[in-house]
Amino acid sequence: MKIFDLKNVISIKDFKKEDIKFILDESSKFEKIAKSQGTSNELSGKILGIMFFEASTRTRLSFETAMKRLGGDCIGFTGSDESSVIKGETIADTSKMFESYSDAILIRHSLEGVAKFISDLVNVPVVNAGDGAGQHPTQTLIDLYTIKKEFGKIKNINIALIGDLKYGRTVHSLSYALGIFGAKMHFISPNELKIPDEILHDLEKKKISYHETHDLKDVIDDLDILYVTRIQKERFSDVEEYERIKGAYLIDKNLIEGKSLIVMHPLPRIDEINHDVDNTKYNKYFKQAFNGVPVRMAILKNIIKH
Ligand code: NCD
Repeated sequence: MKIFDLKNVISIKDFKKEDIKFILDESSKFEKIAKSQGTSNELSGKILGIMFFEASTRTRLSFETAMKRLGGDCIGFTGSDESSVIKGETIADTSKMFESYSDAILIRHSLEGVAKFISDLVNVPVVNAGDGAGQHPTQTLIDLYTIKKEFGKIKNINIALIGDLKYGRTVHSLSYALGIFGAKMHFISPNELKIPDEILHDLEKKKISYHETHDLKDVIDDLDILYVTRIQKERFSDVEEYERIKGAYLIDKNLIEGKSLIVMHPLPRIDEINHDVDNTKYNKYFKQAFNGVPVRMAILKNIIKH
């Protein structure tokens, strides 16, 4: 029985708990094909249009991989200098072109709300691949899938979200979803990069509790997951402020050795996780990046109509 009926993937807040569970279940069915064990033609003849106005490695490539592993194909651009946007074409006109060339649109943009704006203009499904400091709902599904794979559950998992909680869109989406699944959340950031009040209000409205601190040491011994984020340099209006804050938290092997936690990160990592963590059992961030493929296969399969 198909219960997933979302047309677009704009914000994780549009997902009911059942919708999330459905996508997580579907994702595990695609693990093998994602690893090239077997093939699928479920989306053969279908085209994903990729409009990326901001840099990307994992999101774009895992979506492309997902689409191709399902027998479909992709068109698109990354960076406004690759399209007529550089000549002054509006995003609205550009999206109308993508609507006529493709079966779904994947958009990343530096402005919050752009994915929603596009979804009101076109008749094909729109997937938000990150809108400024807004939301990154497909990353959240990957993060939840990773947690479920590692722990078999999300409820009561003790997780600290650390780093740039102000501008980090992955945290903005993830905190909401973790909350509805009953995880225990700790927000750890410098004062300047605290999680926005509107996100906290959303949590409070749902009666979701959380804990805030500046100091990882307060909670590190209780954690199941340390979810590290990059300080979002591109969102700072003042470069000096970025330079001052950038080294706020550095996770290295020494800090976590002997603890019973795993380390996650949506990546890219700059220097917030030392490379000496990479070859330890704590590192789950590369697996998390792989999980992008089965999860995005599940999303694409369920929003692109046959
Ligand atoms: C994140 C993003 O773009 O928000 N990257 C990703 O999609 N995995 C995180 C980041 O850029 O720091």
